Amino acid sequence: MTDEHQDHLDLANGIPEADLADGAMLVGRVGEETVLLARRGQEIFAVGASCTHYGGPLGEGLMVDDTVRCPWHHACFSLRTGEALAAPALNATSCWRVERSGGRIVVRDKVSDVGRPMPAWKHAAGGPPGPMLIVGGGAAGYAAAEMLRREGYGGAVTIISTDDAPPYDRPNLSKDYLAGIAPEEWIPLRPVEFYADNGIELRLSTTATAIDASARRLMLAGGESVSFDKLLLATGAEPIRLQVPGAQLAHVRTLRSLADSRDLIARAHKGSRAVVVGASFIGLEVAASLRHRDVEVHIVAPEARPMERVLGPVLGNFVRQLHEGNGVVFHLGRTLAAIDADRVRLDDGTAIAADLVLVGIGVRPRLELAQQAGLAIDHGVLVNEYLETSTPGIFAAGDIARWPDPHTGEKLRIEHWVVAERQGQTAARNMLGRREPYKAVPFFWSQHYDVSIDYVGHAAAWDAIVQDGDPGAHDVALRFQKAGRVLAVATIFRGRESLLAELAMEQDRQP
Ligand SMILES: Cc1cc2nc3c(=O)[nH]c(=O)nc-3n(C[C@H](O)[C@H](O)[C@H](O)COP(=O)(O)OP(=O)(O)OC[C@H]3O[C@@H](n4cnc5c(N)ncnc54)[C@H](O)[C@@H]3O)c2cc1C
Ligand code: FES
Repeated sequence: MTDEHQDHLDLANGIPEADLADGAMLVGRVGEETVLLARRGQEIFAVGASCTHYGGPLGEGLMVDDTVRCPWHHACFSLRTGEALAAPALNATSCWRVERSGGRIVVRDKVSDVGRPMPAWKHAAGGPPGPMLIVGGGAAGYAAAEMLRREGYGGAVTIISTDDAPPYDRPNLSKDYLAGIAPEEWIPLRPVEFYADNGIELRLSTTATAIDASARRLMLAGGESVSFDKLLLATGAEPIRLQVPGAQLAHVRTLRSLADSRDLIARAHKGSRAVVVGASFIGLEVAASLRHRDVEVHIVAPEARPMERVLGPVLGNFVRQLHEGNGVVFHLGRTLAAIDADRVRLDDGTAIAADLVLVGIGVRPRLELAQQAGLAIDHGVLVNEYLETSTPGIFAAGDIARWPDPHTGEKLRIEHWVVAERQGQTAARNMLGRREPYKAVPFFWSQHYDVSIDYVGHAAAWDAIVQDGDPGAHDVALRFQKAGRVLAVATIFRGRESLLAELAMEQDRQP
């Protein structure tokens, strides 16, 4: 059956049972809404066909048991309840009642309660465990707070965050938001009233300075202290600063926060000139977004090809050509020697005019609190499979956490949005005493113009890259192998293949 045919299927009129094989999914409509119909054995499910993250087409995703995964950024939904089981989607998708009669499947009325009702916590008995305290209002911190409520926890939940904005969609700050495509209202993860409605105390512009682990207290700048039963550290990372003359000038910027992105937007006038230092994900995404605003962009980086260290030479060349095709000028194999008010100077003496210099040379995890508290640290805060640090009752998640990855047998610390959110979700359950190991396979995406590169797994080093397809045709999968074992798979416009690779890695099979 073609996609076109499926789009026009009126599921309220029903379809023959034989049209939906076991394990199959199809998309039709009920009234004005597109609905995904999925069959597992004798069970048939009907849920909203658009992912609640950015609207990805769930019908092109992957059904795994009684769940469906989104082909865009791998969110996972329950087909039974619509619940967003795994980030980056946070909201449940709709569900419909399905009937079978006379050899037909008919989709009936919409179910009003989907997911797990957030207000359940109001009826929970409070009681132990006591106050849950979260340091960090980013991906991991927010996801943890929300999951505590979803799990029915009825005690105090507090987020302490240095940021002055409620938790927001950080990956968007270098992409559509910076490009001027995404409106302001897309950026907060939740409307501001969500926190009060769900009893989550959000203390913004507040910095945690020290932990007294034995007294179970967190000290805040200004002298106040807050008690906790369980503590989650999710302090993320901060941009590494440049160490060259002129690096302190006002037009030399980094990008981590919403305020940083707004500052870049204010400086990115049509026809202005930007130099991006570093051909990192963030540097390249910023370059693409600034080009969308008709800013002249030069990228200066020491490597021979952008992103080669992570994505290899084939995708490195592709990314370079993609950006050059959009007017970006590269100065590769070069470093910055100095920055002046209206130009930068490179190590070979080249001068490039610049009204704005964006430094994207990597980040360092914010480990100060963990260090001060005497938690075990080794290239990140060491946690066990339950994301608990060396001090019982104190957990860590996101960019700071280094966890034992069961699939590679290595300890990993990874700076990805989806990893941070999922770790926050797992940490929350473990703060409630669940003892749920963190087993998710790492996933990230990076957006350049109209091309998204998806990457599942983790290959710090490889001895072979097996290519299937052509990046120039925007249709490719690259398998990063070491000693014959596939460690990671990068894809362009092959969402389902990326999901299949993720599933294989979860099951410790070769993708
Ligand atoms: C511009 C940009 C684009 C990105 N794009 C992508 C992408 O496309 N795909 C992808 O996978 N990843 C992307 N990332 C990476 C991703 O955003 C991070 O991996 C993720 O946000 C990490 O989550 P976290 O919760 O560990 O930290 P964060 O989200 O950084 O949150 C940390 C929080 O802790 C707070 N904090 C720190 N110290 C203290 C303290 N002492 N007291 C109180 N609060 C404190 C901070 O204010 C912040 O609120 C991007 C990052 C940036 C900056
Ligand atoms: S659109 Fe579905 S996970 Fe992002």
